[in-house]
Amino acid sequence: MKFSERIIAMQQSPIRKLVPYADKAKERGKKVYHLNIGQPDIETPKEFIEAIKDFDEKVIAYAHSQGIEELIHAFIEYYKKHDIYFENDEIIVTNGGSEALIFSLIATCDYNDEVLIPEPFYTNYNGFSNMTGVNVVPITTKAEQGFHLPEKNEITKLINNKTKAILLANPGNPTGTVYTKEEIHMLKDIALEYNLFIIADEVYKEFVFDEQEFMSFAHLDEIADRVIITDSISKRYSACGARIGSIASKNKDLMKQVMKLAQGRLCVATIEQVGAANLINTPDSYIEEVKEEYWKRRDIVYNALQKMDGVICEKPHGAFYVIAKLPVDNAEDFVVWLLEEFEINNETVMLAPAEGFYATEGLGRDEVRISYCINANDLEKAMNILNEALKVYPGRV
Ligand SMILES: Cc1ncc(COP(=O)(O)O)c(C=O)c1O
Repeated sequence: MKFSERIIAMQQSPIRKLVPYADKAKERGKKVYHLNIGQPDIETPKEFIEAIKDFDEKVIAYAHSQGIEELIHAFIEYYKKHDIYFENDEIIVTNGGSEALIFSLIATCDYNDEVLIPEPFYTNYNGFSNMTGVNVVPITTKAEQGFHLPEKNEITKLINNKTKAILLANPGNPTGTVYTKEEIHMLKDIALEYNLFIIADEVYKEFVFDEQEFMSFAHLDEIADRVIITDSISKRYSACGARIGSIASKNKDLMKQVMKLAQGRLCVATIEQVGAANLINTPDSYIEEVKEEYWKRRDIVYNALQKMDGVICEKPHGAFYVIAKLPVDNAEDFVVWLLEEFEINNETVMLAPAEGFYATEGLGRDEVRISYCINANDLEKAMNILNEALKVYPGRV
């Protein structure tokens, strides 16, 4: 039997494809510190579970396709706190930020249309593009420049009549880059000049460190008709398994089109929506404390990397990831070696090879993404293991 070209073109997740090596290491009794995946260890606010415990319906019925009223209201209130004003018909609840991204691509691009994405990017953008028949055109960014955007003309020369949107995560995964106001305005100008949508994936907006300021595309009135904000409670409230996200736009016609997609998949899980709606009652101190914690961890990872001979990495200012260039010939081989051959006191570390975060062939081959979702103590140990491993790795260059 023949499978579709779309499914064959899809890559395996670079974050998960080496998991069998980790499983084997664990079977052999090794402890593996997982720095390869963005699953936070932070507790979900109790407000989520409390609301679910109070759920008292006799039937778990379909919810409205748009989302339950309480949750739409909660998202509206949440955005107000960020000086962003969405109306009721400008938000749809989705199955995580993932579905919001898929809906955005379907609503803005035809088959074989193109979407510009700064690379390295969240690898599932590749999968979402394959699913929807959209071609990714990478805007290459570099470790040495903190993965900031190139000059405007470097971006506009990638645009043609197939280009329909610019998609970007701010702060970035896997880079941790927080785009400056100037960069946001540059993309606004491009979107206006070339009539493009901006799909702004802002799921990490709470986690911005140092003197950096996060600027949402939703703050730009001039392009309100072409900005789509995709969002999620997964990272903000450490609720990845709840699968609750949202798609929002001031373009009401666009949202009417997206409603057709929402109706097609009937609804998002009813009970999780009930839990998510109550997250609006989480004290602001929760987010502050979580942010402080990630900031502390970012410092541990960044400071350790700075001290490692031959490692290059610019300080990331947001999310909970960092990309590091390693003095190795091939980062994937290095990660496999870490799992199969290396240990300190029967412990090792797992990283995500960064090549799969790039669309351009060959880029990122000597880079890894490190996620700092584990506690500070373990993180210190994991960074020590990495340091010692690099000293003795046979493929070191
Ligand atoms: C940049 C970015 N966008 C979207 C998502 C999807 O998250 P979810 O579907 O859990 O909301 C992730 C998950 O890691 C991410 O890193």
